[in-house]
Amino acid sequence: MAYSSSSSYYLLFLLFAIQLAHVSQAQLSSTFYDTSCPNVSSIVRNVVQQAQSSDPRIVASLVRLFFHDCFVQGCDGSILLDNSSTIQSEKDALPNKNSARGFDVVDNIKTAVENACPGVVSCADILALAAESSVDLAGGPTWTVLLGRRDSTTANPTVANTSMPVPFDSITVLQQKFSNVGLNVTDLVALSGAHTFGRSQCLFVLNRLYNFSGTGSPDPSLDATYLKTLQQNCPQGGDTTTLNNLDPTTPDTFDNNYFSNLQNNQGLLQSDQELFSTSGAATVSIVNSFAGDQKTFFQSFASSMINMGNISPLTGSNGEVRSNCRKVNGG
Ligand code: HEM
Ligand SMILES: *[C@@H]1O[C@H](CO)[C@@H](O)[C@H](O)[C@H]1NC(C)=O
Ligand SMILES: *[C@@H]1O[C@H](CO)[C@@H](O)[C@H](O)[C@H]1NC(C)=O
Ligand SMILES: *[C@@H]1O[C@H](CO)[C@@H](O)[C@H](O)[C@H]1NC(C)=O
Ligand SMILES: *[C@@H]1O[C@H](CO)[C@@H](O)[C@H](O)[C@H]1NC(C)=O
Ligand SMILES: *[C@@H]1O[C@H](CO)[C@@H](O)[C@H](O)[C@H]1NC(C)=O
Repeated sequence: MAYSSSSSYYLLFLLFAIQLAHVSQAQLSSTFYDTSCPNVSSIVRNVVQQAQSSDPRIVASLVRLFFHDCFVQGCDGSILLDNSSTIQSEKDALPNKNSARGFDVVDNIKTAVENACPGVVSCADILALAAESSVDLAGGPTWTVLLGRRDSTTANPTVANTSMPVPFDSITVLQQKFSNVGLNVTDLVALSGAHTFGRSQCLFVLNRLYNFSGTGSPDPSLDATYLKTLQQNCPQGGDTTTLNNLDPTTPDTFDNNYFSNLQNNQGLLQSDQELFSTSGAATVSIVNSFAGDQKTFFQSFASSMINMGNISPLTGSNGEVRSNCRKVNGG
């Protein structure tokens, strides 16, 4: 008797534990705002399109913001928080300072969304929607954005400093940093394809142009003509904030040229070129398949963006829906 009752308690506990495990998983949904803010996607898209008409680069900057948000304590809008008495902003962390941009456009999107549906749409979801619209508006793939993320009440510049990939990381380190957030090597290569648009400052490539790994010579994996062009744009002792196109062939278009550039030794960052030039790396055949077929790249990019968007979101009653993306509510 005692045995059977304790075993049924055990069964109940098991069911409860399974339920809990289920609830704590990402529960994002494509229909999350269907009744509470049915037009949110087109509102976001319109503001992004407006911004793009005066600044073609902004679509790239917005995609990058989503990446930098998701890699630091999940896709929770933490990157958008400014300094305050309780917040040490991620905006001053190494990967973001004087580099991450588009915060004013996110504010404009938030204002437009709040006008239509006050207090409903999180800043984290705005970043996810803005990233999808941005890729679409630059000629890339579309996908169904999963929604229902809530906003953090914390930021973590230390994690931003240590978890974000840097352009000088080896393939092994890049793969490790992606795998730490549940993304695999296909995601790494597909998402690096976001460098099909946008810009990079000279400071991230100077070592490749003049003194690669202390050799006193340029990175041997750089195409000679491309090297000359880059050296002209980024002279030694010059302005390290001068911009270079991440994709020298079609700088503002979202296409698969990034991957054929790598095959031609015209990857801008070390972290780009090594996806193709590291002999024996699992990334090489993936680069080749994306270079050979834009449709394959577009499909992989879309699913990897969904994977990245699933990194530890706050859902249910966790976090909050900020009314101002730069500040926690009541803060
Ligand atoms: C694989 C590791 C990655 C590294 C090391 C890396 C590094 C960088 C660096 C150094 C820049 C230039 C920043 C500047 O000059 O201020 C940049 C720009 C950019 N990154 Fe990445 N990135 C990586 C992956 C990604 C991913 C996964 C995405 C998005 C899915 C992305 C999207 C972008 C975009 C769109 C830009 C241009 C932004 C603009 O023009 O404002 N990157 N990245
Ligand atoms: C939703 O957006 C569409 C397209 O932008 C517009 O035509 C429509 O009037 C909007 N509906 C509402 C309820 O705002
Ligand atoms: C935010 O605070 C940090 C540390 O207190 C400081 O180093 C940084 O300059 C501040 N950033 C801004 C934009 O005020
Ligand atoms: C992040 O790194 C930068 C540059 O090394 C440093 O100045 C800053 O204090 C770091 N921030 C945190 C919170 O560790
Ligand atoms: C990475 O994960 C995706 C599913 O998200 C899967 O289709 C793909 O085959 C995986 N790649 C590798 C190399 O395991
Ligand atoms: C290249 O860098 C190494 C190590 O940082 C340094 O010792 C060397 O003097 C540099 N060479 C040139 C030509 O600048």
